[in-house]
Amino acid sequence: MDKSWWKGAVIYQIYPRSFKDGNQDGIGDLDGITEELDYIRDLGVDAIWLSPIFRSPMKDFGYDISDYREIDPLFGTMADFDRLLEAAHERGIKVILDQVYNHTSDQHPWFKESCSSKDNPKADWYVWVDGEKGTPPNNWLSYFGGEAWEWVETRKQYYLHLFVKEQPDLNWRHHEVRKQVMQSIKFWLDKGVDGFRFDVVNLFYKDDRLRDNPVKYPEEPIAFNRHYHLYTRDRPETEGAVEEIRELMDFYDDRVSIGEVATELGQAQYFAYTRPNRLNLAFNFDFKELRPFAAKTYTEHVKLNESVFRDFAWPSYVLGNHDSKRFLSKLGEGEDALRKAKVLAALLLTLRGTPFIYYGEEIGMREAEIPYEKIVDPQGKNLWPKNVGRDGCRTPMQWNSGLYAGFSRTEPWLPIGGDVQEVNVERQKADPASMLQYYKQLIRIRKASDALRFGRLEFLETKEEALMAFFRIGESERNLVLLNFGDRAIGLNLEDFGVKTWRYLGGTTSHPVGFSGLSLSLEPYEAAILETN
Ligand code: NOJ
Ligand code: CA
Repeated sequence: MDKSWWKGAVIYQIYPRSFKDGNQDGIGDLDGITEELDYIRDLGVDAIWLSPIFRSPMKDFGYDISDYREIDPLFGTMADFDRLLEAAHERGIKVILDQVYNHTSDQHPWFKESCSSKDNPKADWYVWVDGEKGTPPNNWLSYFGGEAWEWVETRKQYYLHLFVKEQPDLNWRHHEVRKQVMQSIKFWLDKGVDGFRFDVVNLFYKDDRLRDNPVKYPEEPIAFNRHYHLYTRDRPETEGAVEEIRELMDFYDDRVSIGEVATELGQAQYFAYTRPNRLNLAFNFDFKELRPFAAKTYTEHVKLNESVFRDFAWPSYVLGNHDSKRFLSKLGEGEDALRKAKVLAALLLTLRGTPFIYYGEEIGMREAEIPYEKIVDPQGKNLWPKNVGRDGCRTPMQWNSGLYAGFSRTEPWLPIGGDVQEVNVERQKADPASMLQYYKQLIRIRKASDALRFGRLEFLETKEEALMAFFRIGESERNLVLLNFGDRAIGLNLEDFGVKTWRYLGGTTSHPVGFSGLSLSLEPYEAAILETN
């Protein structure tokens, strides 16, 4: 059994602008994160992944980078970063950084130089194409609305940007670009960071013939992304680039590579990026969109995943991130939504595969409503009201119910969520029945079991439609996970599953740990984790 740390780890995503403000300017920063490392350690997670902290004009809040080797002053200095890294390592917390190499900022010196003429040394470092002003080279569209092409008068050419126009796409076909990327990765590896999340890793190469993408929804206005991105992603050349990254990372001990694979093509694509000589992990975003909330939906999805991944690659699961509506808010309102969220949290933390938790999920933060005037995300600004953007899932972490949720003493860059009175760390620390305590418990249970972290997954067939039941089977231990997706109690005789002895480890009810018996009645939306013979 391969027990690489990242297989057994729980990874916590921090959106640095919104976690904790150390210098009281209203924007989260590195010192703020360092201040809260004890909170992170107590939560029990093994690693933090920081969304970009590098120098950036912030047109896409850090995903537009103008210097890959500098910390943006808003977040602090390199010395602050070194301190954060050291303090995290002292607590046994690994640090994963975001790497954005599909595009740079238009303020990156490379792009400025590239823009200046057609024959400067960096002239081909970006995707430049001849054309007529007003007639872009093909029909490719930006993910953030409108054409993916921008005209530059000095060169009398178009450049490609799959995101906002301030994010020009790098030309990965240029050997020097590839070399620069590898050197920048190496810079952070040498600093001792534990791994990377690679932004839109499957977009690096585009069709060299610039063929039109097939139109998917002809009725959509051009502002919306109405195409299949057939020729703008998953090109075979990308796989070679990923292999080169892996080769570099393998020179170092124990680093993890995680790909953000932006695709609609399903498991096959995640798999393509996570072969033994490619990335260690790729995000599987499917849980974010799975409907309806039913045992069958999730069971089928996980089975499919397992059948694709088998022993070749390691799965991963997320319920939310900085690009999508907070998952709790997708489950509806009130108590039932909270109960459902707890079922999904138990699923996330007991499956075979690396779980990611997005900051705030552990206290049950909901999507915040942001009035139009306060929207800052380019996606929301460009596509409103059809797409309100991502600000609602990026609001400040709610530490307490005081001024600005204890995030800052200055008005924060985004408003505080309306649920702060109930949903905050301080309150939930003191409440044994809170979401925070529940997450801590789940993480603790996972950590204590080799079976849950590394073991095989075996589903149980039952007649109960609302029940999801599976074993996690380790070398010497076995866990049984029972999830009631329904609003009615389910009576179970565990002997039917071949279980003779068991111990209750935890879940949504307050059965005492160690509680045992032969039959077990699952309450509506109950999650129960057992240790069995
Ligand atoms: C994916 C990131 O998660 C998203 O936040 C960003 O806007 C795009 N990539 C562009 O870098
Ligand atoms: Ca700050």
